[in-house]
Amino acid sequence: MEEFVFKDYYRNEVKLSFQDHPFSKAPKHVWVICKYENKWLLTEHSTRGLEFPGGKVEKGESAREAAIREVKEETGGIVKDLHYIAQYFVRGKSDTIIKNVYFAPIELLTEQSTYYETHGPVLLDKIPDNVKDKKRFSFMMKDDVLSRCLRYVQENY
Ligand code: GTP
Repeated sequence: MEEFVFKDYYRNEVKLSFQDHPFSKAPKHVWVICKYENKWLLTEHSTRGLEFPGGKVEKGESAREAAIREVKEETGGIVKDLHYIAQYFVRGKSDTIIKNVYFAPIELLTEQSTYYETHGPVLLDKIPDNVKDKKRFSFMMKDDVLSRCLRYVQENY
C-alpha cells in the first residue's frame, strides 16, 4: 500500500494514503477540497486563517454527511458531488486524529446567517505554491496533505 509519511507544520507525524479508508472505516474528522465556478472555495477560520472547510463528525452522522454539513456551515456552499480521495493520520502530542479528504464541486453558494467559527467563504483562482510562508493560511494547508491532494484532484477530475 502506498503511504506517504511526513511532518506537519507543528512537526507532528502525518501518514497519508489514497487507498480506500486505510486507517479507519469511521474517521472522526473530514476535510473537503471545494471547487466553485473554476475557483477554489475556502473558508477563513477566525484564528487559523484560510483553509478548506471541514471539521468533526458528529454523533449519529456519517463522515460523508459531516463533509456536506461542514461545507455549508463554513462557506454556504452546496455540494454537488462528494468524491472520497484520501485519508490521513496525524500523531499529535496527546492524541491522534484520522481525517477523510474529499473533493467536492459546489453547485451553489448560499448566504448563511452564521459561519460558525469562521468568517465565511473565500474564493481563490490559485492556491499559491508557497502557502507555507503565508501567514494568511491555516497550518492545515502547510504540509504535504494539501500538495498531494491537489495534485490528485488535478489528475483525476
Ligand atoms: P476542539 O475539540 O474543536 O477544540 O478541537 P481540538 O483543538 O482538540 O482539535 P482536533 O481534535 O480537531 O485536533 C487535535 C490536534 O490534531 C490539533 O491541535 C492539531 O495539532 C491536529 N490536527 C487536527 N487537524 C489537523 C489537520 O488537518 N492536519 C494536521 N497536520 N494536524 C491536524
